[in-house]
Amino acid sequence: MDEIRIAGGKPLYGTVSVQGSKNAALPMMAASLLHRGVSVLKGCPKIADVFCMEEILRELGAVTWWEDHDLYMDCTYADGTEIPCAFTGKMRSSVILLGALLGRSGMGCLGYPGGCVIGQRPIDLHLYALRKLGAVIEEGPFLISAMCGRLLGNEICFANKSVGATEQGILGAVLAKGETCLKNCAREPEIKWLCRYLRGMGAEIQGDGGDCIYIKGVEELKGGDMQVPADRIVAGTYLCACAATRGKVALTNPPEGELDAFLEVYRKIGGQYKVKSGKLVADGSGVRHALPLLETEVYPGFPTDLQSPLMAVLATIPGESHIREMIFEDRFKAAAELNRMGAGITVTGRDAWIQGGSPLHGCTVYAEELRGGAALILAALAAEGETTVRGYSYICRGYEHICEDLAALGGVIMKDTGTDLYENIHFSEKTADQYQ
Ligand code: UD1
Repeated sequence: MDEIRIAGGKPLYGTVSVQGSKNAALPMMAASLLHRGVSVLKGCPKIADVFCMEEILRELGAVTWWEDHDLYMDCTYADGTEIPCAFTGKMRSSVILLGALLGRSGMGCLGYPGGCVIGQRPIDLHLYALRKLGAVIEEGPFLISAMCGRLLGNEICFANKSVGATEQGILGAVLAKGETCLKNCAREPEIKWLCRYLRGMGAEIQGDGGDCIYIKGVEELKGGDMQVPADRIVAGTYLCACAATRGKVALTNPPEGELDAFLEVYRKIGGQYKVKSGKLVADGSGVRHALPLLETEVYPGFPTDLQSPLMAVLATIPGESHIREMIFEDRFKAAAELNRMGAGITVTGRDAWIQGGSPLHGCTVYAEELRGGAALILAALAAEGETTVRGYSYICRGYEHICEDLAALGGVIMKDTGTDLYENIHFSEKTADQYQ
C-alpha cells in the first residue's frame, strides 16, 4: 500500500542530517552526459527522481553504479538520442536532457516532460533557448525532435525567469561554438551548483547567481566530480515540522545561506534559530504569530517549494494568514486535504487565506504532489489522533527518508510494512545515514 500512518500531537526534538539536493543533482546528472567518460556525484540523494534520471541515462547507453551515496555515471557510450515518453512523463527535469543531447550528439528526441501537477508548466522558454543556439526543433503531438550541427553561441534573453530554462541554456551553451550570453536568468542556488560542476569539468562560465550568465564554449569537457549540496527544501520542510509541532530541532549539514527568506518568515511567526558548530538549531516552541501576507518569489525570495509545508504550519497558528502563490498557478492542492483535518483554508486563484488555530485531527488524506504531500505529513504530526497519508510515492520523489528522519525526532510514523519507526528509533541524536 502506498501510504503511511502518523500518530500526531508530539513536539519533535533532536538532530537530523539533511540529504543531498534533488534539484541540484538532476541537472548535474544531465550535465554528465557532456563528457564521454566517468563522472561522479558524491552524496547524491537516493530518491525516485534521481533513480528515474539514472534509468534514462542507462537507456541512452550509460553505465551507472552506486558506491554508498556516490553515484558513478560512465557516459563513454551514452550515444542514444531518443528518450521515450515512458521515461520523460515521470519527471519534469527530463526536459533539460535535450540541451545535453544536442551538445553531445547534435540531435535529440524526447517525450514531453511530466512531473508534479502544480500548474501548466510550459517548456517554451526551454525551446526558445535551444533555438537561439541554432537547434531546429519540431514539436509533435507526443515527441519533441531537435537537430543541430554544433550549437552556436548567441545572446539569449529570457522573457521570464525559469530555473529549468536557464539550466537548459547553460547545458546547450557549454559545448557550443563561440560565446553565449544568457540574460534574465533565474538565480536559484541550483544554477550556481550546476555551473560549479560544469566548471570542474572544464566549462568556461561566469556570472551565475546573477541575472546574466556568460559562457565561452569549449571543445570538450572532462569528467565531473562533486559533492551534491544539502537540499534547502528538505531542510525547510524539517524546520516546518519543528514549527508545526512546537519542537526543537537541529539540522546537521544545513544549506548555508540558501534559506534566508524562509528563516525570516520563521522568525516572523515566532520561531527562533541560530547556527552553532555548523548546525542550524531551530526552536519552534514560540511559534504563534499569523502571517498577514506571504508571496512566493523567485530566488532569493520565499521559495514556492516551501509554500505548502508553511501552510501546514500556519494552519496551527490562531488568526488569519494569507499566502499568495506567484510562481505556479495551481499549487494549493494540499489545502483541501488540510481542511479535511480541520484547517480553515479558503483558496481563490493564487491566494489562500488560512484561518488557523482550530485543532487539527487525524483522518485519511491524499498526497497529489511532492511538496503538498510533505505538508500533509507535517499537519499529521501536529494533529490529534492518527492520520493516514495516501500517495506516499509522490513524497518519495524528493525525500529520501522523511519517515525515518521524523521518527528519529520522535514522530510516531508507521509505514505500510507495519513497522513502527518510533519503536525502532528512540534516540534522536542519530543521523539519517544510520537508518539505511
Ligand atoms: C524548478 C524546480 C521546482 C521549483 C521551481 C521554481 C527543479 C527540478 N524543479 O522547476 O522544484 O518549484 O523551479 O523554483 O529544479 N515557465 C514557462 N515556460 C518555460 C518554463 C517555465 O512559462 O519554458 C514558467 C512556469 O510555468 C512557472 C515559472 O516559469 O510558472 C517558473 O518555472 P521554472 O523556474 O521553470 O520551474 P522548473 O524549472 O520547472
